[in-house]
Amino acid sequence: MSKKLFAAVDKYIAKLLGPEDKALRSTVKSMKKAGIPPMNISANQGKFLQVLAKTANAKKILEIGTCGGYSTIWLAKALPPGGHLITLEVDPEYADIARQNIIKAGLDTVIDIRVGKALDLLHTLDAEDMGPFDMIFIDADKPPYTEYFDWAIKLSRPGTIIVADNVVREGKILDEKHPDEKVQGVQRLNKTLADDERVTATIIQNVGVKYHDGMVIAVVN
Ligand code: DHB
Ligand code: MG
Repeated sequence: MSKKLFAAVDKYIAKLLGPEDKALRSTVKSMKKAGIPPMNISANQGKFLQVLAKTANAKKILEIGTCGGYSTIWLAKALPPGGHLITLEVDPEYADIARQNIIKAGLDTVIDIRVGKALDLLHTLDAEDMGPFDMIFIDADKPPYTEYFDWAIKLSRPGTIIVADNVVREGKILDEKHPDEKVQGVQRLNKTLADDERVTATIIQNVGVKYHDGMVIAVVN
């Protein structure tokens, strides 16, 4: 019952404050057509990321996990002129679809998609001295989330905002013996954050059109 209400309120908010434009609607459609699981964030979560990006005055954004490019487009639209976003994707098919969506959104000069294993690409970004980023969004495979977070800090500066998606997973994180390696991956990150003096962090629960989940919101000290 409350699930229905959360979804209805989410739709109400999105209609008022987070309407999808043509490029975002077409991105969702392209994912459906390609049979990509609907792992994209919701419209309101996209708008929320934009609010954070603006709060951080972000000119350089890093995204780990492009998927179809839905959150990539929301984030890139929050950039000022001359801003730049680098997004990492392991699946070449997903990257191709994202590239088409980004072109349709007119953002191909703003967004750089790099294809490969995130841990390798992060290493390269560091070697190329591409940091520090003003905002980093982690939304890739869950088992290495703690490693991604470590890299995010390495590629940041004091004040950088780091967000990590899917760290609540319908409350499955409450089960310390949960067998799902995705749950274990985010549990490991959440636990590490408790003693991590490099950041000031919290977790926001999300309810709405997507299933019950949550995001880590952290700022680098
Ligand atoms: C999964 C991954 C996501 O990034 C997401 O938002 C939802 C689910 C998954 O791998 O299960
Ligand atoms: Mg996600």
